[in-house]
Amino acid sequence: PPVNTVTSRRSDWPPVAMSPLYLLAGALLPLTAARFTPDWASLDARPLPAWYDEAKLGIFIHWGVFAVPGFDSEWFWWHWQGQKPPDSRCVKYMADNYPAGFTYQEFAPQFRAQFFDPEEWADIFRASGAKYVVLTAKHHEGFTNWGSPRSWNWNSVDSGPHRDLVGDLGEAVRNRSLHYGLYNSLYEWFNPLYLADKKNGFKTQEFVMHKLLPELYNMVVRYRPEVIWSDGDWEAPDTYWNSTEFLAWLYNDSPVKDTIVTNDRWGAGCACKHGGYYNCEDKYTPGQLPKHKWEKCTSVDTFSWGYRRNMKVKELMPLHTIIQDLVHTVALGGNYLLNVGPTPDGMIPPVFEERLRSVGAWLDINGEAIYASKPWRVQMENSTVPVWYTSKGTSVYAIVTTKPSEATLKLLEPKTTAATKVTLLGHPNPLPWSPVTPSSGIIVLLPELPYTPGQAWTLKLDNIK
Ligand SMILES: *[C@@H]1O[C@H](CO)[C@@H](O)[C@H](O)[C@H]1NC(C)=O
Ligand SMILES: *[C@@H]1O[C@H](CO)[C@@H](O)[C@H](O)[C@H]1NC(C)=O
Ligand SMILES: *[C@@H]1O[C@H](CO)[C@@H](O)[C@H](O)[C@H]1NC(C)=O
Repeated sequence: PPVNTVTSRRSDWPPVAMSPLYLLAGALLPLTAARFTPDWASLDARPLPAWYDEAKLGIFIHWGVFAVPGFDSEWFWWHWQGQKPPDSRCVKYMADNYPAGFTYQEFAPQFRAQFFDPEEWADIFRASGAKYVVLTAKHHEGFTNWGSPRSWNWNSVDSGPHRDLVGDLGEAVRNRSLHYGLYNSLYEWFNPLYLADKKNGFKTQEFVMHKLLPELYNMVVRYRPEVIWSDGDWEAPDTYWNSTEFLAWLYNDSPVKDTIVTNDRWGAGCACKHGGYYNCEDKYTPGQLPKHKWEKCTSVDTFSWGYRRNMKVKELMPLHTIIQDLVHTVALGGNYLLNVGPTPDGMIPPVFEERLRSVGAWLDINGEAIYASKPWRVQMENSTVPVWYTSKGTSVYAIVTTKPSEATLKLLEPKTTAATKVTLLGHPNPLPWSPVTPSSGIIVLLPELPYTPGQAWTLKLDNIK
């Protein structure tokens, strides 16, 4: 059949078995890729598409109805009305500011996104130096930022902004050659179908079959995300979520099968063990070089991923901390996914914008040591000041995230050769150096270190061992 017939069938629900005709066509074409089977041994063996490791930096966006109360965090609804006992600060916030009986659903009309300019957002993300963007398509509250037919009246097209936020941002992001990913929560705190399945000890799958999976397949076919950042998996096993069946479809037959990457939140016990790259926990940082590709997700606002009205500058990550964190992560082979929470009216708070643009200004000079780099044989040393290493081709990069107090910098790990050359990124002339001993180490004479917004400098070492 013509390719588009196959493509259009992909949007059907439930996913249909391939027709004999399609199998025949497949048999006549050279088969380059083996098919994945719906089990972890097969799925876990899939190589990650190369773009992801090269990208290194992504922007995470937590946006939803939770931005309207703008208090506590994106977990506000749960803290207010889900957990027992509720968080008294959230209860008081509601009592002080809203009429008695006000429901969470009543926040939705105030999620208006009237200043949302996806082009402007995408310009900011591009200026940050990020290579991918991940938006919450649906957080644990269940509200979809697109017109999901399975989320009747609880989506951004039927209520709130009356706009396809996922689609509009995606167009602008892709137009700037950034990869576009979608965060999707598997569970929904208050969905009656989910709560019924939970009550049945997850032996029934009403929520998965009638809500989650149709929505997820539809989302992939409509928006063709290149990352699915799965979350909200931990209450139930992957067999409840049908995760392996979904992933096998995603990797074999979906329209993004060749470029899609996913994380490791596909059911209780999956984190750090199964899936694509590993997040392990939020803000997780390994102590040494992991064997498996990983990503650190973290938030400029250290208290929340979603927008908070009462956010204070002292609660935000300073630029220098962000740069240090990025450098440590990349030296240990990770990607860095940095979060901002937009306001309900569609603004990225200017303080976040400034942080992101400053990260980009640092990367304009030092990006050579970050993008498409690989971990070196040693990840860090402390000889004079902490130094983190990355490598690319025959170059090794030594990134200094603390200003040395002297004019020389000693590194013990590199072994020099007669041809060794040292430069400071952003500085025109090679730097004088001498070995520490004839067989190891290097002492570099530093120039006056130029001002850099991130207070981190990169020495590029060529022809060393
Ligand atoms: C972005 O949009 C402009 C204007 O419509 C277009 O000319 C350009 O080719 C687009 N770039 C990409 C990468 O899609
Ligand atoms: C869900 O998983 C079950 C058991 O593996 C399988 O029989 C069924 O076809 C799957 N359904 C979907 C929609 O993935
Ligand atoms: C460098 O110093 C830090 C902080 O004191 C320590 O945690 C780290 O293990 C040291 N690293 C090495 C390679 O010595």
